[in-house]
Amino acid sequence: MSSPAPLLDVELVTLFPEMFDSFLRASLLGKAIDGGVVRVNRTNPRDFAPGRHRQVDDSPYGGGPGMILRPGPVAAAIEAVEAERGRAHRLLLSPSGRLFDQALAGELAGRCRLMFICGRYEGLDERIAELFADEVVSIGDYVLAGGEMAAAVLIEAVARLVPGVLGCETSTVDESFSAGRLEYPQWTRPPTFRGLAVPEVLLSGNHAQVAKWRGLESLRRTQARRPDLIERHPLTEHETMLVQGGPTQRRRRSPSER
Ligand code: ADE
Repeated sequence: MSSPAPLLDVELVTLFPEMFDSFLRASLLGKAIDGGVVRVNRTNPRDFAPGRHRQVDDSPYGGGPGMILRPGPVAAAIEAVEAERGRAHRLLLSPSGRLFDQALAGELAGRCRLMFICGRYEGLDERIAELFADEVVSIGDYVLAGGEMAAAVLIEAVARLVPGVLGCETSTVDESFSAGRLEYPQWTRPPTFRGLAVPEVLLSGNHAQVAKWRGLESLRRTQARRPDLIERHPLTEHETMLVQGGPTQRRRRSPSER
């Protein structure tokens, strides 16, 4: 009997497939791959480059520094992958793409087949973007040596939203960015560590108080660290009420500090 189709089917088109070796084996993603929930195939455009030297890059037309990936081997790799396993939603990783965020992670998690096309060197011939990319995506306003690390970031962010990848299905509901807010801080045992005590409300067993406290901490943290998120997602009525409720207890001092 054939095994069921994976819930997330990933194609990586990269000149450095080995960069993903330990990443794809580790932790929950590794387990999801072992369990058949996620499948990842890697294809190297170099295997599609002509000639004895299998050269994949060339100097830019118009001059300038560095080397540009030639379109032929990348196009041939994409076409070979899709001829064998079917059309995928194709994402080209580039610092000049749309900024990746949790909303896009959610959108991508709803698709069954994703292809990540990783550029290298100074860039990729623009015709690959024009002919093949469904979206061009950047992970931030900085330049990496290639798209591989960016692809890994996207894979991890998307895979953890796929049912069966995280151990606990509710883990993604409460977290940072799900409502334009950073996540509230968390603690575990011991109750006091190096002079810092866990806030008392969290030890109280009063779920309503805990929820209120977390909402306020989440808001305070967002205001302090990411005011841009507050601008884009103004305070809700509930948050306004929380803030007007006055300062709640923050951190309990340890006995040695009292
Ligand atoms: N390739 C190089 N830099 C990148 C970035 N910031 N995001 C996505 N792909 C990239």
